[in-house]
Amino acid sequence: MASAQVGIVGAGPAGLLLSHLLHLAGIESVVIETRSREEVAGPIRAGVLEQGTVDLLVQAGVGERLMREAFFHRGVYLRFDGRTCHVDMQELTGGKRVTVYAQHEVIRDLVKARLDAGGAIEFGASDVRVAGDGAAIEYALGGVSHRLRCEFVAGCDGSHGVSRRSIPAGVLARHERVYPFGWFGILVEAPPSSDELIYATHDRGFALVSTRSPTLQRMYLQCDPLDDVAQWSDDRIWSELRARLATRDGWEPKEGRITQKVIVGMRSVVVEPMRHGRIFLAGDAAHIVPPTGAKGLNLAAADVRVLARAFERHFTAGDSAGLDRYSETCLRRVWKGQRFSYWLTTLLHRSDVDTSFDRRRQLAELDYLTTSRAAATSFAENYVGLPFEE
Ligand code: FAD
Ligand code: DHB
Repeated sequence: MASAQVGIVGAGPAGLLLSHLLHLAGIESVVIETRSREEVAGPIRAGVLEQGTVDLLVQAGVGERLMREAFFHRGVYLRFDGRTCHVDMQELTGGKRVTVYAQHEVIRDLVKARLDAGGAIEFGASDVRVAGDGAAIEYALGGVSHRLRCEFVAGCDGSHGVSRRSIPAGVLARHERVYPFGWFGILVEAPPSSDELIYATHDRGFALVSTRSPTLQRMYLQCDPLDDVAQWSDDRIWSELRARLATRDGWEPKEGRITQKVIVGMRSVVVEPMRHGRIFLAGDAAHIVPPTGAKGLNLAAADVRVLARAFERHFTAGDSAGLDRYSETCLRRVWKGQRFSYWLTTLLHRSDVDTSFDRRRQLAELDYLTTSRAAATSFAENYVGLPFEE
């Protein structure tokens, strides 16, 4: 029977980064993943990295391509009431930047680093199960059953994984809020419409202009979470984006061939504690944020940074204090990430139950945010990432 010090369920950003950080600390792990190597780097998801996430990847030796290919922005634009205000986050936070580097690129870099170092990632596993309260991970590969014996299990298998469900009912408290809106995301073959991201709010709803490369752009618009992609023709998408992003001086997005259309729902979820015995939850397995604040991947990276350090102390010095404090340490950051994501989501989206009072209040808050250095600094320090706790 195979064994590892740490068995990791899920090869998303959380699982792969944890495995890499453990390897650097001399701790062996095996990653069990249901999807294939091609599939894990497939979906187009997150785009924005906090400064701390970038620093962590660079210090861990997996930031070389990132530093070469990512877009580094000073800040973001807020667009409301037909005008555009720039928030210079680099200036407001003493040098921290907004980094645009897609999640699938981070995954590609981490998979390569693990495999180049001889790391074990079991892609394409099925019937994955956390057994014996975290003493083993059972799974099948090509019709053959396997059992990986481990001292600890890291549940990094996202919001629909098995790790959280392997913890007995009643142990975890679940805190949840569902929003009455979704995001309609597109990929467009076109040059960038803007030199930095644009977060826009309009009476017709939210819109976001982001980027992926000099020739591929990412844009989102608020939609009904139960809407059907088939209801959105290219013409309807462009007319909605033009309307929501319109400025008094006639700005228009650069249009092109739309190569992807997806709808994502929005939820805020936290389960706590993030540990049960030998099982540790990290990333989306423990918490989900609405995408507006761009915090999901970043919170996942912050969790596994704490977890890797705690495992290192445990395995090298026999000191389990870090593991005992894991949940409490992570949750302090997670709840601040939740607060920020909730705040930015409700500031920029339009809801059917909103009255004219709510709209005027949103616009007053945006006016405050773009005219008060104190308010802009608060926005900026959260967006580029609060400092890690030591
Ligand atoms: P996941 O990425 O979900 O990875 C979990 C892995 O576990 C997957 O590979 C999955 O196949 C695997 N798995 C699942 N079940 C099992 C099982 N039973 N056994 C084995 N393996 C299993 N975040 C940001 O920080 N910045 C952004 O700009 C941003 N934008 C976003 C935009 C969109 C449209 C969306 C949808 C999300 C965005 N996010 C963003 C959130 C971010 O994508 C997630 O928070 C991040 O992927 C979480 O990483 P994870 O490793 O915890 O989970
Ligand atoms: C992107 C996603 C986000 O959630 C966000 O806030 C900004 C950009 C993106 O996919 O590029």
